[in-house]
Amino acid sequence: MTQVLALGNYSDTDQAALKRDLDPVFVKTASDIAALPEKDRSRITALAFMGHHPFSGGEMHLLPNLGLIANYGVGYDAIDVSAADARGIKVTNTPDVLNDDVADLAVALLIAQGRQMIPASEWVSSGNWAAKGNFALARKISGGRAGIVGLGRIGRAIADRLTGFDMEIHYSSRREKDTPGWTYHADPVSLAEAVDYLIVALVGGPETENHVSKDVIAALGPRGIIVNISRGSTIDEAALLDALENGAIAGAGLDVFLNEPAIDPRFLKLDNVVLQPHQGSATVETRTAMGQLQRDNVSAFLNGKALLTPVN
Ligand code: 8YV
Repeated sequence: MTQVLALGNYSDTDQAALKRDLDPVFVKTASDIAALPEKDRSRITALAFMGHHPFSGGEMHLLPNLGLIANYGVGYDAIDVSAADARGIKVTNTPDVLNDDVADLAVALLIAQGRQMIPASEWVSSGNWAAKGNFALARKISGGRAGIVGLGRIGRAIADRLTGFDMEIHYSSRREKDTPGWTYHADPVSLAEAVDYLIVALVGGPETENHVSKDVIAALGPRGIIVNISRGSTIDEAALLDALENGAIAGAGLDVFLNEPAIDPRFLKLDNVVLQPHQGSATVETRTAMGQLQRDNVSAFLNGKALLTPVN
C-alpha cells in the first residue's frame, strides 16, 4: 500500500507521472484528508502538495507519520513550516525551474499594460480598426525606470530582462545585493518615488503582507504601473483598487490576487489592468520540470537520500 498522498488539482500529465512514479492516493483538497480511513492516513509518510490553500498543523495532525511535504511551486507560503518543524516534517519546493517563465510574464504584463495590448487587440477583432480608424496612442515602455520589490531569483531574472529594454533598475530587498549598477532602496516608498514601474517579486507569507502599502502605491504616482507576479497578499489590495479606480496610478498587470480564483469583483470593472489567472509558471515545459522536481524530492525522501531542494 502506498505511502504517498498527492494533494491538489494536478494536470492530467502530472497526475499520470505521479501515478507512474509514486502511485499515490489522490485527494483534491486538504479537507478530503479527514475522510480517508485512519489506517490509510497512518501509512502516509510523504505528501506531494499543490495549491494555495493553507496547510497547517491541523491537517498535518491527520497524517501522524508524515515526514515530507513536497510543494509543487517555489512559493510555500500555504504550508505552515513552523508547524512542520515542530513535527519533524521536512518541506521542499521547486525553485529556479520557473524563473524564466515568471520573469517573462512580468515583462509581458508591463508591456501589455503600457502598450494597451488587450484593448488594441479587441479594437482589431471587433472590426473597429476598419470601421473607426486607428487605435489611440499608447505609452513607451523601453527606457523607463523600473523598481523591483524583492530581488530574489525571480526578481533578478526580471531585472536582467528589463536591462535589455534600456531601463534604469532600482530595487528594494531585505539587504543590499551585489548588482551591476542597480540602485538599492532600503525603503519601498523611496523605491516607488524613484521609478515609473513597480514590479513585485516578493515571497509570500505573513512577513511580506501588505508590503506594498497604501503609501508605496501613492508614492508611485499617476504615471506608475504596478506588476505583481508574487502573491496577492504582498500588496494592500484595497489600496491598489482605490488607486486604480481613481487614477492615482496609471494601471496594473496582475497575475496574483487575494482569494484566488474568486477575486474582488472591483477588478472586473477596471479598464486600466491586464489580469492573468495565476499563470506565472503555467507552461508545459516549466510545469513538467516542476512536477519532476517535486517527484524527485519525494523519491529521495522515500529512498533515504538527501532532499534536492529543502526548505527547512
Ligand atoms: C504555483 C506558484 O505553484 O511556484 C509558485 O509559487 O505560485 C505557482 O507556480 C502553481 O500555481 C501551482 O499551484
